[in-house]
Amino acid sequence: MTSRSLTDRLGGLAFGGDYNPEQWDEPVWKEDDELMRRARVNLATVGVFSWALLEPEEGRYDFTWLDAHLDRLHANGVAVDLATPTASPPPWFTLAHPDALTVRPDGTRLVHGSRDTYCLTAPAYRNAASRIAGALAARYGDHPALALWHVHNEYATLCYCDHTAAAFRVWLRARHGSLDVLNEAWGTAFWSQHYTSWEQVLPPRATNWHHNPGQALDFRRFWSDVVIAAYREQRDAIRAHSDRPVTTNLMLPGYQNIDLWALARELDVVSCDQYPSAPGLGAAADVAFHADRARSLGGGRPWLLMEQGTSTVYDGDRVLAKDPGDILRHTLGHIARGSEGALFFQWRQSRAGAETWHSAMVPHAGPDSRIFREVTQAGVAVARLGELAGSTLGAQVAVLHDPDAWWALGVDGLPTTDLDYHAALARAHHTLWDAGVTVDFAHPAHELSRYPLVVAPALFLLSDAAAENLRRYVSDGGTLLVQHACGYVDDRLHARLGGYPAAPLREALGIRVEEYRPLRRTEQITLSDGTQGTAWSESLRTEGAETLATYTHGMLAGSPALTRHRFGTGQGWYLSTRLDDAGHGALVARLLAEARVGPEMPGLPPGVEATTRRAPDGRRWRFLINHGTEPVSLPESAHDLLTGGTVSELPVGGCAVLRSA
Ligand code: GLA
Repeated sequence: MTSRSLTDRLGGLAFGGDYNPEQWDEPVWKEDDELMRRARVNLATVGVFSWALLEPEEGRYDFTWLDAHLDRLHANGVAVDLATPTASPPPWFTLAHPDALTVRPDGTRLVHGSRDTYCLTAPAYRNAASRIAGALAARYGDHPALALWHVHNEYATLCYCDHTAAAFRVWLRARHGSLDVLNEAWGTAFWSQHYTSWEQVLPPRATNWHHNPGQALDFRRFWSDVVIAAYREQRDAIRAHSDRPVTTNLMLPGYQNIDLWALARELDVVSCDQYPSAPGLGAAADVAFHADRARSLGGGRPWLLMEQGTSTVYDGDRVLAKDPGDILRHTLGHIARGSEGALFFQWRQSRAGAETWHSAMVPHAGPDSRIFREVTQAGVAVARLGELAGSTLGAQVAVLHDPDAWWALGVDGLPTTDLDYHAALARAHHTLWDAGVTVDFAHPAHELSRYPLVVAPALFLLSDAAAENLRRYVSDGGTLLVQHACGYVDDRLHARLGGYPAAPLREALGIRVEEYRPLRRTEQITLSDGTQGTAWSESLRTEGAETLATYTHGMLAGSPALTRHRFGTGQGWYLSTRLDDAGHGALVARLLAEARVGPEMPGLPPGVEATTRRAPDGRRWRFLINHGTEPVSLPESAHDLLTGGTVSELPVGGCAVLRSA
């Protein structure tokens, strides 16, 4: 068990970033010390990619350089988040253990030269990873600088090698028990795929046309279990020597093939990295989406933003710069939703190597720069927020997330490729964010009764247990919005027969979907309430539900598009197409009104983000961020932690953290 929380050890919220001093020399380290003090850095992530320096040859460790940096950081008042370097095995390792290199689905075995080039199922890799984690913990487990352990970095590499094939078979035997059950689950009666011995079963390597969907889904589940086991091994090796909290940094929403609900249960504190994929307001919405997911993964407990970029927006084939002021807005955006601080990748921008052009807290231009001035401003702001460490948020709306449903929408042979799982989740969240409502994410089999409103945007796969849970939720008084293509398959990817979705949910919704009709990429379909649908439509019958809008043309003219069913003491709503933004916003507003859920702070103009963190003793802090184009007057003046004074107006782009009396 861990002794003290991270914020107890730091004496406040965390501020800092990945620190790679091995890229620099003595004069720069001296400047780092001074600049860290200036920027109020109190936590540095050290050693993430340092394996080659820490273990220059197999079994021979060199900790002297790290000793010096940890001691220096400690003397400078900076605590350490010490990473295990296992995301980047050194060249000697891969040359000695070529069987531990990643194999792609097409059989290509990769070579070293980048990072993340390893196989988690290769015994040599797993042993080497646990060994160095244990060696680091034995040396630094009670170092006074140590505040947190950071296992690995963004576990994301999948591998299709022979070690993986063997491990996959072991996992399949445990899951299915017999080949007969596996054959039935995977539907191998078709396309002559029937297996007669376990040795015939392979990972979904490159093949002609569609993979077997059951094989593809089981491989995703298997790989998630592999990652979790690899994490646990390192964590346990660390815990043998250290009582400090242990985490691994997650990357949301879909970069890692992991059941994040399951992995989060193993973490002492959930930590996540976040790089927006759109500039401006899109980035702010992305921050909120990621932060609400990160908090929800830990069951609402405070979490930690492990990485963000000072000026990094991934936009397809280019990396865009952030807007002036975004460093503070994004930092506060995460803290507003439960993060216990804000860290960046990385402290000092590299002058050479693979990430030379990745933004950093100290840019190539040096400290006399807009970026470093904004970093310092953010550091000062975070230092003023120490009193809210440990406080949490409450949400009245949940958006459902199930990794099985995500993976189910990734298999071959679906009617359209336009059912993008994470885009659907982000859109549901964005619409609620626009409405000023705080959102949790929940698994469809979780206890949901504390949420007056639940939104299910993309549950193509729905297990029997989850379908029953949603039926009960509605029957017991909840308001549920289920969106198109939901509950089409069970947890083996077998189609639901007799009409979609799964029977218990059909009962709650009072409908039966008879036919799916994907739309062409540019096609729009008009509903009787004037809204437009895209991507998908369905022919459905009501079985007790009332029709709120119908389709107006084509074969579906007159048939229900949006329905509501009063069931038990709740309501089940069904939307059978993807609505345009205005229509979706109006529908969500109507549902919020039905469920009696108001915005976090009524009366704010659009574009002003508001959240509330609450301490168990009743203290509350309201975060306000003005993303709009006009200054905003506050309903009453209040004490702002950021300025230490009283504020009554929020300028364009401005932020405030108001302590309530
Ligand atoms: C990830 C990694 C970092 C860095 C950033 C770049 O989050 O953890 O090492 O490569 O991406 O955005």
